[in-house]
Amino acid sequence: MKCFFIFKDKHKARKGTQSASALENQTSKSNDSALARSARSLPSPRSIPELYKENERNFRVFSVQELREATNGFSRLLKIGEGGFGSVYKGQIKPANGKGDPMIVAIKRLNRLSLQGHKEWLAEVQFLGIVNHPNLVKLLGYCSADNERGIQRLLVYEFMANKSLEDHLFNQALPTLPWKMRLEIILGAAQGLAYLHSGLEVQVIYRDFKASNVLLDNGFKPKLSDFGLAREGPTGDRTHVSTGVVGTYGYADPEYIETGHLSTHSDVWSFGVVLYEILTGRRTLERNRPTLEQKLLEWVKQFPADSKRFSMIIDPRLRNQYSINAARKIAKLADCCLNKNQKERPSMDQVIESLKQAIRDSDVGNTSLNGSTGSPGSRVVQRKPIKVV
Ligand SMILES: Nc1ncnc2c1ncn2[C@@H]1O[C@H](COP(=O)(O)OP(=O)(O)OP(=O)(O)O)[C@@H](O)[C@H]1O
Ligand SMILES: [Mg+2]
Repeated sequence: MKCFFIFKDKHKARKGTQSASALENQTSKSNDSALARSARSLPSPRSIPELYKENERNFRVFSVQELREATNGFSRLLKIGEGGFGSVYKGQIKPANGKGDPMIVAIKRLNRLSLQGHKEWLAEVQFLGIVNHPNLVKLLGYCSADNERGIQRLLVYEFMANKSLEDHLFNQALPTLPWKMRLEIILGAAQGLAYLHSGLEVQVIYRDFKASNVLLDNGFKPKLSDFGLAREGPTGDRTHVSTGVVGTYGYADPEYIETGHLSTHSDVWSFGVVLYEILTGRRTLERNRPTLEQKLLEWVKQFPADSKRFSMIIDPRLRNQYSINAARKIAKLADCCLNKNQKERPSMDQVIESLKQAIRDSDVGNTSLNGSTGSPGSRVVQRKPIKVV
């Protein structure tokens, strides 16, 4: 799903390869800087750019040439994805000291000539420079070069071998993601989000929680990616920050869209949307369905968690291999996350507790046939941002 933005900024190109700090200085001089704006409207003891400077990670700074070589000239054969900001390639980089085996990485090349792209790139470098959590993707380095051929912004990440949650839920060519794995993945994603909300000196609002941003490593461990839209949360007595609306259609909190008031509760809404995607195997918007079924959140309302009809929304690809008790709990949790009133939504810590409970309900020893028996038991599994305006 593609994203769109409503920022209207002018870009002044600079020549040569530059470090993220240097570019941050340049950006923060601009009155239009999203980060500067964020810091202005939300005074905090230390802003994210400040924290980034203090903790500056040893991100490797690559030249365009190195990354071109790493991807066979950005070969289409090595392209592994495309999002609203640019293309992602699988690549091989040599160790910094030139010794040892090459390392497989993912290289994201942001679309050229976009100041928005520069801002996303800078925000991503800064956020990933201050975070450290097993459920957040690791940035290894970056490249920034402005020359007569244009603006080049690239990011080099650890390679996530199993693509995204979106791929595994919706791509029919891939094997069905079993029930327990769905729960384990969403639990890990919740832990990543909870860390952003309450595990750092600054509160971070992710703003783009969706299935395609939950990447999966070779053991299917989930890691959140894409921090280009992340923002510092409110400080002191404030309940929200006021900001232009960005995110992805279908996932964004309606209250945020309407008011521009952003808080961690908006991430919780998006999380609720993904919970329903996991239950149903349907995307938040599917235009090829009958009208009443196109909008996932509208459609599932006809099948409340406590009703007999509830099991009709469960992903048929699961072939009944799931716990109905756990599924009802997940649906109720999703409904809480999708409360119209932001303040009545659970915190991510509360979400984690509920998910752990649902996982326990799905465990062997706590099961019975589900669905048509009418039994309340369980059955165990065997085995793209909007600027929404
Ligand atoms: N570190 C990574 N390792 C492996 N694959 C990745 C990595 N980062 C991204 N990808 C792949 O590239 C795809 C596109 O990612 P990208 O973030 O550019 O777009 P998106 O999430 O679909 O949309 P958006 O731009 O709105 O975030 C991902 O779905 C994933 O399959
Ligand atoms: Mg993404």
